[in-house]
Amino acid sequence: MTTYIGPDEIIQKKRDYLIPCVYHFYQQPMQLVRGEMQYLYDHNGKQYLDCFAGVSVVNCGHCNPEITKAICEQVNTLQHTTTVYLTQNIVNLAERLAGLTPGRLQKSFFCASGTEANEGAALLASIYTGKHEFISLRQGLHGRTKLTMSLTGLSFWRTDTTPVGGISFAPNAYCYRCPLNKQYPECDLACANEIENVIKTATSGQVAAMIAEPIQGNGGMITPPPGYFKRVKEILDRYGILLIVDEVQTGFGRTGKMFAIEHYDVEPDIMTMAKALANGTPVGAFTARAEIADKYTRPGASTLGGNPVTAAASLATLDVITKQNLPARAAELGQYLKAGLQQLQERHPLIGDVRGLGLMLGAELVLPDHSPAIHEVDIVLEKMKDRGFLVGKNGPNRNVLAFQPPLIITQEDLDRLLNNLDDVLSSL
Ligand SMILES: Cc1ncc(COP(=O)(O)O)c(C=O)c1O
Repeated sequence: MTTYIGPDEIIQKKRDYLIPCVYHFYQQPMQLVRGEMQYLYDHNGKQYLDCFAGVSVVNCGHCNPEITKAICEQVNTLQHTTTVYLTQNIVNLAERLAGLTPGRLQKSFFCASGTEANEGAALLASIYTGKHEFISLRQGLHGRTKLTMSLTGLSFWRTDTTPVGGISFAPNAYCYRCPLNKQYPECDLACANEIENVIKTATSGQVAAMIAEPIQGNGGMITPPPGYFKRVKEILDRYGILLIVDEVQTGFGRTGKMFAIEHYDVEPDIMTMAKALANGTPVGAFTARAEIADKYTRPGASTLGGNPVTAAASLATLDVITKQNLPARAAELGQYLKAGLQQLQERHPLIGDVRGLGLMLGAELVLPDHSPAIHEVDIVLEKMKDRGFLVGKNGPNRNVLAFQPPLIITQEDLDRLLNNLDDVLSSL
């Protein structure tokens, strides 16, 4: 039998041996030891309904047997070779992505994380355009390397005090707290129009690409209004600037479509993916139109990128997502959860806004004067955890409750979640 060292000893070892930037949720955290589909279990055997999915990773559920089987078979056959040798999972996966991604996106490069995917996509954009500046959105998050942290529009995650130059930020489409103090639809998408002003005033005109999440996850589930990305793309096209869509958090059914950018009916020039692509096995990828991808001819290699095991996990994950039509399930259950959260909003003024698409939903908690209810979010998270529900939090003020459960969650699970959240909000 496995013996568990328990939360106190883990915290002590974290203090002693992990770099302290690796922080954890909760005043009284538990040790998680097992996962089964939408549930996690701690070292005392207590069950938790996972409503965060390891930040939008385990879309098919923890230890999904079909995916685990594919991983185990591959681990027992051929685990690693690197890309200087021919193996077939990597090319089969690239072919599958070409079929699933929007429009003409066709050729992929595989790496091991979302950060690397964005770093690589930015490099590809520079190679193709011969330009080196970028535009990003406030409240976006794109990674932890020098460049991707510099592309990140959240101070909380911008630890680097000497960011890369040549990056200009545009206001995001945060309708609840519009950065331009306007209201949709009378605003005529002023935030999207503002990108043209940014190009004309803050850049030298030599912009390779704009990078954006279709829904800003860490930024607080910021969900642009209809028409937003169409307007953005029109502007970028006029200036010959590529659009890199970061689907690291939104991809693979999460928002009710395979990719969130499909809600906006826009074809990105480059798309980045990670997280849910392999349901928990480290993965990253960027995919581009052939004419763009074909400019990247100098050697590029990621030792573990697209290795046989990761690619097998990804192929099995895509099988589960497509066979079980998880995007449609996310759309349906997401609507149910959103309606439930909106009903809670009517009873609890602490909930200022409910937003998101599919099973990527946020509830922004606010005080009576509309200021962020930061402390209250932590209390809700702790109390929900004690009741057996793991909810996330995000936003620049960390006052947005995040609901991103595995897409195989059931309506009964959501009812239990909503009832318990109702009780917890009433108890505050
Ligand atoms: C939208 C987005 N892009 C990029 C990243 C970075 O991905 P990774 O942690 O796999 O490097 C994240 C991580 O949360 C993310 O949410």
